[in-house]
Amino acid sequence: MSNVLTIHGGKPLVGSVSVRGAKNLVPKAMVAALLGSKPSVIRNVPEIKDVDVVTGLLRLHGVVVEHDCDSGEIYMDPTGVKTANNAEIDAFAGDSRIPILFCGPLMHAVGAAFIPDLGGCKIGDRPIDFHLEVLRQFGAEISKEPTGTYIRAPRRLTGAKLELPYPSVGATEQVLLTAVKADGITELKGAAVEPEIHDLIHVLQKMGAVITVQTDRTIRIEGVPELGGYNHVALNDRNESASWASAALVTNGDIFVEGATQRDLTAFLNVYRKIGGDFDVRDSGIRFWRGGDTLNPLVLETDVHPGFMTDWQQPLVVALTQAQGVSIVHETVYENRFGFTDALIRMGASIQLHRECLGSVPCRFGQRNFLHSAVISGPAKLTGTNFNIPDLRGGFSHVLAALAAEGTSVATGMAVINRGYEKFFDKLEGLGADIEISEN
Ligand code: EPU
Repeated sequence: MSNVLTIHGGKPLVGSVSVRGAKNLVPKAMVAALLGSKPSVIRNVPEIKDVDVVTGLLRLHGVVVEHDCDSGEIYMDPTGVKTANNAEIDAFAGDSRIPILFCGPLMHAVGAAFIPDLGGCKIGDRPIDFHLEVLRQFGAEISKEPTGTYIRAPRRLTGAKLELPYPSVGATEQVLLTAVKADGITELKGAAVEPEIHDLIHVLQKMGAVITVQTDRTIRIEGVPELGGYNHVALNDRNESASWASAALVTNGDIFVEGATQRDLTAFLNVYRKIGGDFDVRDSGIRFWRGGDTLNPLVLETDVHPGFMTDWQQPLVVALTQAQGVSIVHETVYENRFGFTDALIRMGASIQLHRECLGSVPCRFGQRNFLHSAVISGPAKLTGTNFNIPDLRGGFSHVLAALAAEGTSVATGMAVINRGYEKFFDKLEGLGADIEISEN
């Protein structure tokens, strides 16, 4: 992907974009294929970097992977799974966080796993303590070395009674991908129940796993000795859908998001309507636009599912800079997810960050020196500026602000956007954005 984008702002985005499989499901479903004794097929696969990273890592571990980009289908045959070279794993993993999820499947297949230093978006500390603790409770031995973390199963892993201190998506996936083939029963309390988790459970169930989701964030997994393959259509990317919906709001445009699914966007759609957006749910997607002449300010808190998701926050904050009055956003999932507001302020937005919990939910970050609440006053006139893309969602928000701003902005580091938005430039051009793409 080209790295520099010049944006001439002020044009409403109008037209249609289509979203495919979720970035937060597809790479994990690909890791699940490692657990099978037969080939698996995942469909509706987007062309994004995390998919390439997992493809590379699977191949290093002896899995045959065939990716048909046009049909969006990936075939994976894990029957030749083998141990990979650690230096090669490190080189391939790049800045993805997915390698941590290889632990369970690799321990079941070859008895050991290696996790290089993890990347991912810089939106907080993003520790892996929950992951390592649950792996220990399954019987894994863990040693941290300067090169990375070495995980070993000295004997068959056994099911355990587990409880997460916070409903972490990644740690819940770690438990699922390990417990399905561990001896006996695993009970996980405090689990994440995001739609992507349910879809991963559907993948594992197709492979032969026995998993029950109870009403109180408890997941019960009965381990089985062997799993087969799966054939699965990934659920669509609700975060990309929410991003384009916000783009319609911010630029006063009109965007039909083909593949947007109401079922996975309920909390987002409520907020969208309150801020002054309108939408029309159709069988094949959702059309988004501004309902009236002005946008309304909001008080909003991010939360785990079924709350308002943290990945929807950043594009919506751009819309709130254009609302008539004062909005408050309390980020309760990541401690450092307002870094992107610096560039918005440089463009003319009025945003103050606070350490206090400005919301009804006292979160883990209150009184801990984290600027995790934002007060946004609008409407502010935005003027184009130059910026470097800081992370996936923050980067999308910068581009969005530039599209709504008066004048020209130059964005560098655009490759980061490809971690979660496929064919981003094509989509912008298709919506009528006035942009130029270059290498540097
Ligand atoms: N946490 C810990 N220790 C751990 C794991 C998590 O303290 O061992 C904390 C995190 O620091 C964070 C909170 O728990 O404060 C939630 O983190 P979680 O584990 O749920 O996040 P994740 O699995 O690393 C996934 C998505 C994120 C999304 C979050 C929340 C993927 C690849 N990433 O991250 O997506 O924001 O869940 O829903 O699935 C994005 O799409 O831009 C993105 C960052």
